[in-house]
Amino acid sequence: MSFTVSALAHLDDNDIARIKELIQSATVQDDLAPLSEHVLIHLNHGGDEHDEHIVARSTDGIVIGYLHLDQTDEVAGPVVELVVHPRHRRMGVGRALVHAATERAGDDRLRLWAHGELAMAYALASNLGFKKTRELWQMRRSLFSAMPKYDVPTGITIRSFVPGQDEEAWLALNAEVFAEHPEQGQLSRNDLDVRMSEGWFDPSGFLLACKGDKLVGFHWTKIHGGRRGGGHDHPEIGEIYVLGVAPSERGTGLSKALSLKGLEYLRDEGLGAAMLYVDADNDSAKHLYESIGFMHWDTDVMFTRA
Ligand SMILES: CC(C)(COP(=O)(O)OP(=O)(O)OC[C@H]1O[C@@H](n2cnc3c(N)ncnc32)[C@H](O)[C@@H]1OP(=O)(O)O)[C@@H](O)C(=O)NCCC(=O)NCCS
Repeated sequence: MSFTVSALAHLDDNDIARIKELIQSATVQDDLAPLSEHVLIHLNHGGDEHDEHIVARSTDGIVIGYLHLDQTDEVAGPVVELVVHPRHRRMGVGRALVHAATERAGDDRLRLWAHGELAMAYALASNLGFKKTRELWQMRRSLFSAMPKYDVPTGITIRSFVPGQDEEAWLALNAEVFAEHPEQGQLSRNDLDVRMSEGWFDPSGFLLACKGDKLVGFHWTKIHGGRRGGGHDHPEIGEIYVLGVAPSERGTGLSKALSLKGLEYLRDEGLGAAMLYVDADNDSAKHLYESIGFMHWDTDVMFTRA
């Protein structure tokens, strides 16, 4: 079967309607939404200014495949999500979409996200030389429901990050906390500066726990969507973006206090819900989040080039 593949910076109303039909057909066939809620919301709102789209069409112009490319994360690299119409699978469309995205991004760190655990996603990824690198749970909780009580451990104060002052101490603690987790633990000063220059960054939602002069924990929150969401035109949701406690302070209740303090901050900012990503095999973190009211929402699998 012949088809064409084109990259578009903007989708017109007709393209959006056709892509939504394609997503609907795949959802019915697979019993699972093929793309993340984040991408679906962007499509419903006409696309975000930073979105890039790669569309496959049959020779009679019908949309048979769609790939969403997000290149906004300069630190972690480009991210793609894709779907092929159930009647046009196993014809090379998925492969062509990923190749077009790789060419457009010009970056070997391309990450493929699949939602749920579809065998065909694994098959496509491995055929293209990608391997599963992470399996993440997305968890959510309402910020309208009551929050558990907590105590800040004795001798600890919690304050906001001060740009120009706290960067090096935070990087050292982050490396210690995530020593086993290369992607997060190897964050460099430049990576941090890039994050801090992004539209969503707000130091008042980046909480630090201090014992005297020493930094012993942090909870970095992030607000997606709305006017603070870096151009993401959809309702706001808060995220537990990164949470870490120094090994010496574990078991003291500090992680619970930091998490809840951050959730209070998000609630005080007027948000109604919070989400987070946690590695599916990180039982201790999942246990913490369940204890403060989060529930499993979705499972996402990330593939990177082997
Ligand atoms: C995964 C998906 C995008 C694949 O699209 P596709 O157009 O059918 O993929 P291609 O035809 O380009 O397949 C390329 C190769 O991947 C492998 N592959 C893809 N689907 C497969 C399946 N169902 N079973 C076995 N192998 C498969 C094969 O090796 C195939 O090469 P081959 O046909 O020459 O043997 C499509 O099934 C889909 O839309 N699934 C739902 C959404 C999703 O899971 N997206 C995440 C993708 S990481």
